[in-house]
Amino acid sequence: MSRLLIRDLAQVATHRGTRAPLRGAALGEVETVERAYVLVDPGGTIAAVGAMRDLPSLKGSDVEELDGTGLAAIPGLVDCHTHPAFAGDRVGEFALRAVGATYEELLAAGGGILSTTRATREAGPDVLREIVVRHREAMLRHGTTTFEGKSGYGLDRDTELAQLDAIAAAGGMPTWLGAHAVPPEHPDADAYIDWALSEVLPDAAKVAVAADVFVERGAFGVEPARRYLRACADAGLALRLHGDQLTEMGAVPLALELGARSVDHLESTGPAGVSALAASDVAAVLLPVAALYLDRPKPPARALVDAGAIVALATDFNPGSAFCESLPVVATLACTQLRLAPEEALGAMTVNAAHVLGLHDRGRLAPGLRADVVLLDAPDWRHLAYHLAADVVHTVVREGRVVVSRA
Ligand code: NIG
Ligand code: FE
Repeated sequence: MSRLLIRDLAQVATHRGTRAPLRGAALGEVETVERAYVLVDPGGTIAAVGAMRDLPSLKGSDVEELDGTGLAAIPGLVDCHTHPAFAGDRVGEFALRAVGATYEELLAAGGGILSTTRATREAGPDVLREIVVRHREAMLRHGTTTFEGKSGYGLDRDTELAQLDAIAAAGGMPTWLGAHAVPPEHPDADAYIDWALSEVLPDAAKVAVAADVFVERGAFGVEPARRYLRACADAGLALRLHGDQLTEMGAVPLALELGARSVDHLESTGPAGVSALAASDVAAVLLPVAALYLDRPKPPARALVDAGAIVALATDFNPGSAFCESLPVVATLACTQLRLAPEEALGAMTVNAAHVLGLHDRGRLAPGLRADVVLLDAPDWRHLAYHLAADVVHTVVREGRVVVSRA
């Protein structure tokens, strides 16, 4: 493989330095270079980034060139919270919600997560692999070069493991969401957790890098969640929680107690939760599409950033509460609904999202990091958030290879 030179870019934008995670003012500090280049080593890491006028002579070396005229480069986006391994859809429930049914009512009636579980159990491992690849390609077209994917639509041994396998096979970071809902064959949450920890965890822990639980009325209370997460931590998994989505019922204190990587959602989090997160190393992963889609209150993003919490943004891509693969749409919502600056939104879906996944080799455009680069069809990188639901992604480079091109 030769070197790759992305030349004559209108702009390169990236968070500077090497610090991760980014808190407070540092989240908003983006460096831009006008008329710029990015040079990629044959091994797929970044060799140099700078202004065209400072480009060293590359004569005599084998260089493939990509013309960046009129385009702005940002780091590859990192989606740290998705549910891509599902079969079927929930368009019928979407229509019911449109005229007044609530998410909780649909779940309590055996729909919601449980209806996707029925469809996913029937799909089989080969179909699940195809489905996750299809969703990965959609994410990639929106600039996502790294994605996390959760299981949680099997809730039986074979389907949970097939979901994790499909996510890993597609190059994603698998999270075992073994505690997403209580499937009907178990009498209650405690009985289901007992079964899942003895029958699924030993094999799930061989594939997954993290575990997740939905702490919510109608899903799992704090006690079963604690038992589940402790066992998962003992098996070597990082801990994530779906918390404070509909009800603030103790997910944040539990996350702090267990040293979790993140609590995700936080639409219902009050001031005490904001202060507790800010004083901790637990990241707040905000999912503004889910809040919009379910017409819920917005998570307290501005307060979290101002208080110094680690804030990341993700799509929450799933068939029920957030049927959206696009981090650029999330960036628009962050800037228009959550009062984050474009710079903060970018840091939350690059450096901080990578941190949530335990990845420190990506998230910025800097020498030595993975050459994951998104070229936007705009002269100013802030069009990422500015141009709502647009075709703003022009070219995607992943590990030094062009994987999406609209040229
Ligand atoms: O993050 N809230 C729980 N889990 C998902 C939704 C899953 C579904 O509705 O299928 C979420 O919003
Ligand atoms: Fe989710």
